[in-house]
Amino acid sequence: MSPLDRDATVHAIDVVGWFEQPSLTMDRCLQDLQKVIDSGECRPVPHMVYSADQIYAAMDGVLAGQEAGKTVIVLDDGVSLDRAPEQPVLDPTATYLVVGGLDGFGAETARHLVRRGARHLTLVSRRGTARNQDAAALVSSLSDQGVQVDARAVDISDPKTVDQLFRDLDAGGRRLAGVVHAAMVLDDDEVTDLSVERYLTVLNPKLTGALLLDSHTRERNLDFFAMYSSFAALLGNRRQASYSAASLTLENIARQRRHDGLPATVLQLGAISDAGYVLRTGITSVMSDYGILPMTSSQALDRLDMLLHHPDTTVTAVVAESRGHEQALMAFLPAVTAPRTATLVHTSDAGADDSLLPRLRAAATAEEARPILLDALTSWLASGLHTTPDRVDVSRRIDQLGADSLTATELMGHIRRHTGCAIPAPEVMTASLTSIAATVLHHLRPESQS
Ligand SMILES: NC(=O)c1ccc[n+]([C@@H]2O[C@H](COP(=O)([O-])OP(=O)(O)OC[C@H]3O[C@@H](n4cnc5c(N)ncnc54)[C@H](OP(=O)(O)O)[C@@H]3O)[C@@H](O)[C@H]2O)c1
Repeated sequence: MSPLDRDATVHAIDVVGWFEQPSLTMDRCLQDLQKVIDSGECRPVPHMVYSADQIYAAMDGVLAGQEAGKTVIVLDDGVSLDRAPEQPVLDPTATYLVVGGLDGFGAETARHLVRRGARHLTLVSRRGTARNQDAAALVSSLSDQGVQVDARAVDISDPKTVDQLFRDLDAGGRRLAGVVHAAMVLDDDEVTDLSVERYLTVLNPKLTGALLLDSHTRERNLDFFAMYSSFAALLGNRRQASYSAASLTLENIARQRRHDGLPATVLQLGAISDAGYVLRTGITSVMSDYGILPMTSSQALDRLDMLLHHPDTTVTAVVAESRGHEQALMAFLPAVTAPRTATLVHTSDAGADDSLLPRLRAAATAEEARPILLDALTSWLASGLHTTPDRVDVSRRIDQLGADSLTATELMGHIRRHTGCAIPAPEVMTASLTSIAATVLHHLRPESQS
């Protein structure tokens, strides 16, 4: 900050805009810049260069704080990419444990492990096979294939029962080679309507279960430790606060395990069409209406195969297809338009309205154009703030509504794309939508005095 002592002024310049609207001035600036770089007058900041196939080493360096300056990844020729083998081959002499493996997608997982070579399975759920006809049918069909199945009633959130489970696994004399945590209980409601008991009903099987599985397997030589999470962890879901929290925490457990050199994998699933909760409760078409097009178990399990072979990936999202249903998805899960997922939603622009400019120009007066523009501004800002347009007060400064510089930059981008009016981000940041609308209208309709 020492230059400021000498009364220097700081200007924020949006160079991205230069590239969007090429001009002679910009060409000249770039040529001048090239000259000072070529002459050595302008030196690069300290940096380390890695090729793309060293990206994990580069990220490890960044995370460990070992890199001075910038880390640069170059996409030179000759990058060698390892292709994961198509299918993992499991150890036929070892045991594989699937928690929640007697029902739904957990049962499909058990079948899948057998297809990949497993011959000894321990499948657990609270009911076991006792009050569960599907579970009994699963065990009998797997046994017919020559698989040794130990199906038992275990509450994975109960420490004593889990202790006993692992004692019995040890007594069996086989190496425990893999764990899949597929247990879940749902109790969806507004967070304000949930009691602590209801919250824990959802949290315990997933989270406490995962913690117990983690602590009981740390000293074992596992090949994999996989847990099923949900798109709710990635994007949130209003009536699933407990489920989102539990799912998200699984991912942190996985990261901690990876950090400690232990295997861990999390599959964030969308809706599954042919097994489990979504099928059982008949909400497949509702999910589609919300823009989450279900995938089959087999599609999801292909991803599990891929993950089990990829030692460097901890969490993978399999958030189903949404093509053609983007607007529904954005209405259901506004967070999908956040920068980290926006590019995955195949739409040009969240809440975009390509007819905006013609409609503004067609309005007879600035007064007529104002509400049209304000509507668009409000929906863009609401999307950036992950809220609904009716909660945006157009008369308050947007920073006071919770917009940060990123949100302001996004809003600025929307304005420029849809109206051609370039307002600097710092100006947007401290203005209300009403005054931004006035500035844009003044730009579009200079006769407007507002
Ligand atoms: N199905 C989907 O569309 C979908 C979407 C996203 C994520 N997922 C994830 O995929 C996994 C499986 O989902 P699903 O739809 O197959 O669920 P599901 O059909 O409801 O099966 C859940 C299983 O968990 C068992 N379970 C519940 N609490 C338990 C506990 N405390 N201890 C041991 N077992 C317990 C249940 O059996 P008991 O009742 O006998 O205990 C049941 O076998 C879950 O982790 C879920 O988060 C599924």
